Amino acid sequence: MTQQNFEPKIVAFCCNWCSYAGADLAGTGRLKYPENIRIIRVPCSSRVEVPLVMRAFQNGADGVMVAGCHPGDCHYNTGNYHTRRRMILMQKVLDFMGISSDRLLVKWISGNEAAKFKDTVENFNERLKKLGAADKVRDMRCKK
Ligand code: FES
Repeated sequence: MTQQNFEPKIVAFCCNWCSYAGADLAGTGRLKYPENIRIIRVPCSSRVEVPLVMRAFQNGADGVMVAGCHPGDCHYNTGNYHTRRRMILMQKVLDFMGISSDRLLVKWISGNEAAKFKDTVENFNERLKKLGAADKVRDMRCKK
């Protein structure tokens, strides 16, 4: 596959209460966004722990997006504050491992922000196209 027609695989963890609703609204509103995204609904963005992100990369994702409610709007009060701290650390770990932290995106998208969801996915997709495939991460898989 050449760089030009490379379609990155994106795994998006979206919190049930806001970001997933935003993605759903984008779909029902017929807003077109890249099809190469796989959305995984989680109860809260704070459910997304470091091993979950690494597992997504190891299983073929070229980019991982973690989306949740805006700060102060988390339905579990402080969940997204934990997410924000955890993902900042995760980005540092990715950089330390030689994997660009640009492959991990954290966004706050509410249930009525369908256009923001669409724009976010499009921009992330373009960013990943420039970065190319995340082969280095896949090479980390345990070999039997
Ligand atoms: S419920 Fe949405 S981030 Fe916690």
